[in-house]
Amino acid sequence: MECTVRQEKESEYRAVENLVRDAFWNVYRPGAMEHYVLHCFRGDSAFIKELGLVLENDGKLIGYTMYVKSEICLDDGGVLPVITLGPICIANEYKRQGYGKILLDASLEKAVALGFGGVVMEGNIDFYGKSGFVVSKERGIRYADDPEAEYLLCQELKPGYFDGIKGTFADPEGYFVCQNDAEGFASFEEGFPKKEKKKMPGQLFSE
Ligand SMILES: CC(C)(COP(=O)(O)OP(=O)(O)OC[C@H]1O[C@@H](n2cnc3c(N)ncnc32)[C@H](O)[C@@H]1OP(=O)(O)O)[C@@H](O)C(=O)NCCC(=O)NCCS
Repeated sequence: MECTVRQEKESEYRAVENLVRDAFWNVYRPGAMEHYVLHCFRGDSAFIKELGLVLENDGKLIGYTMYVKSEICLDDGGVLPVITLGPICIANEYKRQGYGKILLDASLEKAVALGFGGVVMEGNIDFYGKSGFVVSKERGIRYADDPEAEYLLCQELKPGYFDGIKGTFADPEGYFVCQNDAEGFASFEEGFPKKEKKKMPGQLFSE
């Protein structure tokens, strides 16, 4: 596989949004929101530009991931800076061929090189576990909305970064932009090719 992971270029923003939209379409809900989340985050100070990454295969964009700055509110009153991954996706025709793991691992390496201490985000341990993630509550990090959540995952980027901590993680506000700005989302969505929204088994949300 001739793969390159590199920072996205401004000239690719729309192509990346199309890729993200197609890859998430009807997966977690009828339709998709992740392309608008990414679009809005690009203008947010929490967005880590160096980690807005595309996966190119033989010159074709086939994957994308991004990270934002976030934090753990520690029970002792302090705050531990972390980063949150997502969305991450692979183009439909390339899914389940190992590309997601290539992109994820390369992005984690870049995050380490940039000096970040740890990652916390929602996800499926079946995918992320293969790249070193563990269930957050096992490291003392509870999810604000659901303290027992098995789907809040974390990984240290600096060894020992989570040692001895207890605290709560809440998703950065930017992840809720579609709910908070439904009109903005609707008009953004009109600029994309029409696609049929379908209710599918396994979706987490009804709309
Ligand atoms: C999730 C996603 C990024 C994974 O990328 P991928 O290239 O398909 O995954 P890989 O081939 O690298 O998978 C590596 C391993 O992770 C696990 N895995 C990957 N996707 C999985 C899924 N949806 N459910 C359960 N396990 C999964 C499997 O064990 C897989 O190995 P296998 O195929 O030999 O069983 C991709 O499928 C995708 O874009 N999905 C839609 C968007 C999404 O759900 N993004 C993640 C949430 S933000």
